Amino acid sequence: MIDQLVAVVGQAGAIAREKKELHAQVKAASDYVTDADKAVDSFLIQALPKLVPGRVFTEESPIVPGDYAGNTWVVDPIDGTTNLMYHMNFSAVSVALIVDGHLRLGAVHNPFTGEMYWAQAGSGAFLDGRAIRVSPVQHLEQALIGFEIGPGSKGQQEPVLRAVGAFHQAANGVRALGSTALDLCYVACGRYSGCFWDYIHPWDYAAGMIILQEAGGRVTQRDGREMDFQGKSTMVASNGWIHDEMLRLMDRP
Ligand code: IPD
Ligand code: CA
Repeated sequence: MIDQLVAVVGQAGAIAREKKELHAQVKAASDYVTDADKAVDSFLIQALPKLVPGRVFTEESPIVPGDYAGNTWVVDPIDGTTNLMYHMNFSAVSVALIVDGHLRLGAVHNPFTGEMYWAQAGSGAFLDGRAIRVSPVQHLEQALIGFEIGPGSKGQQEPVLRAVGAFHQAANGVRALGSTALDLCYVACGRYSGCFWDYIHPWDYAAGMIILQEAGGRVTQRDGREMDFQGKSTMVASNGWIHDEMLRLMDRP
């Protein structure tokens, strides 16, 4: 099944890459949907239930899955829409399958670099066919740390900016690249050792989360609770070794 999912996500990526003229509509302040997002969304809504029958929960046509009973595809047709609009080549198609509340499959594909990440529960994580693992870094001072600051925190950005300052001091470097799904994959393959978000939705993290977990990493909310796949939440992801250190640092006033 994972092979078929990877093929479908690859086709979705080709649709995004081939859209040359991008018309963007404003959803909220600094939050956009383009015709690439819509074209990929329509394609995946058709294609995914043919692989495994179930509902499709996407950023662009959200249905609230509630308890996630049965099969639920969780889709961000383009994660990193603003990057797409500015030709940054750092955006991804992100698809996960949740079965009875448990993550089972995930695929994240950057159609501009060609990188394809995938994972199946219990079978490890892969980048372009090679098994990937998180970084062996055990202390923040050796770590490159990602973060994101989304449009939803405009006007209430102080906590995340404070955390950026703390990580700038404590870690080896900080970066904000603009795609949550790819950030999680970057932790999974050991480029980043950790990453944190001010707020995030299930479609942003579901696929990247199973890829990171299968690569040996850890994902929680900022207060240490498990992700709940409901509304928006904070998120901290790591190679596992530095997770508690990250949570402690973020907890400081
Ligand atoms: C966004 C990206 C970004 C995060 C934003 C998200 P979108 O997703 O994941 O990294 O900071 O909060 O909204 O809107 O490009 O799909
Ligand atoms: Ca999106």
